[in-house]
Formats: sequence, C-alpha cells, structure tokens
Amino acid sequence: MMSSETIAKLAGVTKVYGKGEAEVEALKGVDLELYAGEVVVVLGPSGSGKTTLLNIIGGIETATSGSVEINGQQLVGQSAEKLATIRRDNIAFVFQFYNLIPTLTAAENVRIIPELTHRASGADLSSRVDEALAAVGLQERAKNFPGQMSGGQQQRVAIARAIATQPRLMLCDEPTGALDLETGRQVLELLQQTAGRDGRCVVVVTHNSGIATMANRIIHVHGGAIAGVDTQEAQPASRVSW
Ligand SMILES: Nc1ncnc2c1ncn2[C@@H]1O[C@H](COP(=O)(O)OP(=O)(O)OP(=O)(O)O)[C@@H](O)[C@H]1O
Ligand SMILES: [Mg+2]
Repeated sequence: MMSSETIAKLAGVTKVYGKGEAEVEALKGVDLELYAGEVVVVLGPSGSGKTTLLNIIGGIETATSGSVEINGQQLVGQSAEKLATIRRDNIAFVFQFYNLIPTLTAAENVRIIPELTHRASGADLSSRVDEALAAVGLQERAKNFPGQMSGGQQQRVAIARAIATQPRLMLCDEPTGALDLETGRQVLELLQQTAGRDGRCVVVVTHNSGIATMANRIIHVHGGAIAGVDTQEAQPASRVSW
C-alpha cells in the first residue's frame, strides 16, 4: 500500500546542458516527492525532460541547481564516489534496451548485482535469484543467454535483476518501449506488485498513456517542468500469467 514515507524529494531542480548558444534548459525548476509503495508514471512528449529527470533522481546526472534527496541523503554537490554508494544502496535502474550482459545466462545476469554489492551470498543469494526469476515467470529460462530470448523475456530478466537487488527506488526508462501492449501491461503489473508488496517506489517513464492506468500517480512533464499531476485509484494488478 502507499504510505507517506518519503523516498525521494526534489526541490527547485534545474538542469542546463551545454553553454552559450548550445545551451539547453532541460529542467526548469522541478519540485517532486516520491513515496514508498507507489508507482509513478512520468508522461510527456519527446525532449520534455523525462530521462533527464529520471537520471537526476538516480544520481546518474547532477542537477545544475536545486536539491535532490534520496532516503534523506543530499545528492547535489556529492562526490562521484558518494553518489555511487547512494545509488548502490538505494536504487535499481531498468532501461529500455535491457542492458543485459550477453555472455551471462539469465540467472547470472540477475545474480551479478546483489553478488557484487555483497547484499547476499550462498544459499540466500541463490534463493533471491530463483524468486526474482519466478516473479517474472522465467524460472525455466534461467540457463538461457539473452540472445536466446525474446525482447519481452529479456526485459523481464532486467526487471528480475532490479527486483533481486531489493532497492527502495526502482527507476525505469521506457521499460515497455520495445514490448507489445499486452507484455507491456504485464511488466507494469509486475512493477505494481513489487511496489505494493515490498514498499518500493517505482518510477516509470513512458510515451504510452495506455499503461498509465496502473499508476498511483501520473506526472505530466512539458518543456522541462511538471505541467500537472493526476492522482488516481491504480487499476489493481490481476494475477500475472506470462
Ligand atoms: N547530454 C545532453 N546534452 C545536451 N542536451 C541534452 C542532453 N541530454 C538531453 N538533452 C536535451 O535536454 C532536453 C530533454 O531531454 P530528455 O532526454 O530528458 O527528454 P525525454 O523527455 O527523455 O525525451 P524522449 O521521450 O525522446 O526520450 C532535450 O531538449 C534534449 O535535447
Ligand atoms: Mg528519454
């Protein structure tokens, strides 16, 4: 369920790329608070600043001005090392084109981050990986390589990988962009379940307003600013069957 526990808090965030005539004001003063247990969909036209916003929340890019707090920790002005630590401890990304490692199997791709970050080891790690693959309906494909799977299956592996790291904040940039509508809906249902059951905050950037019905909130981004926020009764996730 949604709670009032704040996971991320942005205040007056701006982002300027480039200099002089090449200057682009990608974000023009964004205020936003994100809570545990909610799915937030970010909608907006191409070039409106959605990816920039997501990358700033995730500490991949730094704000030009303003304040970005994740779990009470200020990102703006931090060193690269400190940012990497905050990211590692709080955040998982899901990208449009999955970013799986082609030479690792599905299970190895899911395993790698919790293992490298010493979140789990031994039997605990193995059961985390099994559970995450089962959650996306791919337990039978654990030994397959990405090249042996469909686009939708690869995206589900990428989501299993994010789930296995058990982050407070899951940031997804067009996670359904390469999927058909039905698979996209199933991916959203899965994200909704992980938010509600495990108290995560899941942010999903998309062009596709068709999947936004499953969000608790819809943030409309236009020209680098938040043009509106819809709070809605999220359409409940049906049982996901792959
Ligand atoms: N590294 C960069 N250098 C210069 N300008 C950039 C850079 N990244 C983004 N921009 C500009 O900032 C603005 C916002 O870009 P952003 O990628 O956030 O848009 P978006 O909403 O994610 O678009 P899309 O839906 O096409 O992915 C655009 O005008 C873009 O050209
Ligand atoms: Mg984008």
